[in-house]
Amino acid sequence: MMRFISGVITTLVVFAALAFVAVWFGLVPATADVPPPALEKWAAHQSLDATISREAPQPPYPVTSSDAAIVAGAKLYLQNCAACHGTAVGDPTNMAKGFYIRPPQFVKHGVDDDPEGETYWKIEHGIRFTAMPAYKGNLTEEQIWQITYFMKNLPDHLPPDAQAEWHKPVPG
Ligand code: HEC
Repeated sequence: MMRFISGVITTLVVFAALAFVAVWFGLVPATADVPPPALEKWAAHQSLDATISREAPQPPYPVTSSDAAIVAGAKLYLQNCAACHGTAVGDPTNMAKGFYIRPPQFVKHGVDDDPEGETYWKIEHGIRFTAMPAYKGNLTEEQIWQITYFMKNLPDHLPPDAQAEWHKPVPG
């Protein structure tokens, strides 16, 4: 039994030492211009999915959707999100094209299939180890719901004023 335990401890120490050497000598990729390794991608997605299924708000939501909320969300989207996620017009910005984890361009990959609570969670908390910021504290809870409802209705169910915002070029 003692030999088994000391074998386990030795293995753990060797792994920890190898990990330390890899970090110390810069063998772990540190640049943003290579695609993420498969193991890193799997671990990040698994951990994100598990956290969201535990923490995302469930219906009934505290703010309800309406045309006015979606239009307010569209304006907030243009100011806060379009630089990374784009609008219906124009190419992705250089910033969006240069991130290590590329921000999805919602004109091509919408999130209208996701439950509103999941999108709300992502905007409120951000996504660790990516460029996706946490907006908690900088936008109110109501504003985050407004953006969430704008995204839920992209691209086919937007009221006309929100559709007009979505077709403006990315500011700046
Ligand atoms: C500085 C760049 C940046 C800004 C600004 C930004 N995001 Fe993101 N966002 C990202 C990146 C990068 C990802 C991809 C993360 C990943 O793949 O895990 C992402 C992912 C997302 C996702 C998940 C997409 C999916 O397919 O599951 C949503 C939803 C989202 N962002 C919404 C927003 C909203 C709404 C705003 C504005 C309030 C915003 N983002 C602002 C960079 C940004």
